[in-house]
Amino acid sequence: MRCDQTPAWAALRAHFHESGKTFDARQALKDDPRRVPYWNMQAPHVYAELSKNLIDADTEALLLKLAEQCGVTQRRDAMFAGEAINSTEQRAVMHFLLRKPALRQDGYIDLAIENVAFELQAVHSTLDAMLAFAETVRSDVQITDIVNIGIGGSDLGPQMAVLALDAYRVPGKRFHFVSNVDGHELAATLKDLNPRNTLFLIASKTFTTTETMTNAESAKAWFVANGGQDTARHFVALTTNVAAAKTFGINTTFGFWDWVGGRYSIWSAIGLPVAIAIGAGGFRHMLAGAHAMDEHFRTAPLAQNLPVRLGLLDVWYRNFHGFTSRCIAPYHAALRRLPAYFQQLEMESNGKQVDLNGKPLSYGTSPVLWGEPGTNGQHAYFQMLHQGTDVVPVEFLAVKSAAHDLPGHHPKLLANALAQAQALLQGQSDQAGHKNFPGNRPSSFFVLDELSPTTLGAFLAMYEHRVFVSGAIWGINSFDQWGVELGKVLAKDIEPRLASGDVTGLDASTATLLYRLR
Ligand code: F6P
Repeated sequence: MRCDQTPAWAALRAHFHESGKTFDARQALKDDPRRVPYWNMQAPHVYAELSKNLIDADTEALLLKLAEQCGVTQRRDAMFAGEAINSTEQRAVMHFLLRKPALRQDGYIDLAIENVAFELQAVHSTLDAMLAFAETVRSDVQITDIVNIGIGGSDLGPQMAVLALDAYRVPGKRFHFVSNVDGHELAATLKDLNPRNTLFLIASKTFTTTETMTNAESAKAWFVANGGQDTARHFVALTTNVAAAKTFGINTTFGFWDWVGGRYSIWSAIGLPVAIAIGAGGFRHMLAGAHAMDEHFRTAPLAQNLPVRLGLLDVWYRNFHGFTSRCIAPYHAALRRLPAYFQQLEMESNGKQVDLNGKPLSYGTSPVLWGEPGTNGQHAYFQMLHQGTDVVPVEFLAVKSAAHDLPGHHPKLLANALAQAQALLQGQSDQAGHKNFPGNRPSSFFVLDELSPTTLGAFLAMYEHRVFVSGAIWGINSFDQWGVELGKVLAKDIEPRLASGDVTGLDASTATLLYRLR
């Protein structure tokens, strides 16, 4: 049933007007000694403290009813059973399978994975080959620079993870990520490279994306023009389109499958830069961390299921409080690309305006996600978070142990994360106004014991499933992305017009700009 037609939705509306709207988390924390134990939880490798949110057990009980009435469990189970839940593309959605351990040697197949046993075998043979290749590159002293050419899911995940896991990075190798069709990016990267020492990874699920193909062609031309020998050794493809990679002239290809969405593909061959950076063992740990979270999401009762609790909170904020954005605040400099990664994950998945039957929605879906690492954000936009007219829920992520030994830094960093969450909640009163902080501004606080492949894997999987939950409530297809297509088609039409000056059929504004840019 559509969420806005369920009895739970109507009950949530009434509850919001009665008490939800004026709920004071500050007061609740003072009054209820059970609030913190109730709202914090340890999921696999991720600790979450949610008690500063504008929610109580009554709200959650109604949200759980909503989940039940919207069939969230059934949709989750359909995904894990390999059903084609991406209905507009008739595809299964099985990124979870990429992190599932291999089938048992004795041939025993767990009934739960009977449907997908064949795919699991293919996953592991590709994974083994990809990781063996990563090890070869790691020990190849001639290769000092790895250039990943890809965009969207073929860039954001690997780039984010290579940076995040810098403490685990193999010495002697530099990693570069080129995504933009803007030649400034590729040119700046190539400036300091020597073809002899460079390995290009051409990462594209489809192997048709304009940006990636343009950059790949230019990289090949640069390689040859600068005395590069043995293209086959220096170019590798990561794609589902093996034939197109061959036509491009690449022999070494690591494949994956159409049931892996681009924004869910870091766990597949697209993760090769990560595997080269942190090694086969590290990559397997990242998969294991994610798998532990998959099992939590698949089996924990909804009320004790972290991705479910977060997804329901997202619905409560978006559809009842009317909050339109969420700030991601990782207090770890190595997580600087995490907000960008989550932007694609959530906004490309849930930025939809029709339901599974193509019918327009009358309620909001994906919020805007944005953010920068702490403490940088504090000196930029936190002013607005504390005193602006809009309420923006903030998500803090702190890591208990540092991977460096510079004295004094880490306690300062952690103190700032705690203080910002505390300031948002507590506020401060000032009769004169300018120093008044309204307080009661919601935040969630996540803690990882360390930033390792395992904990990162678990945290990313938690986020994927949380996006799944809100998407399931909203009754949308979180796994297609038709909204990116129109602009691509129009750009193809406009490109030759920039050369010819032909503006026939263009609107007056676009025609004027085209002339201005010629
Ligand atoms: O245009 C959006 C998109 O299709 C993303 O979903 C995807 O991650 C990205 O482009 C790159 O696609 P590909 O990996 O096929 O080059």
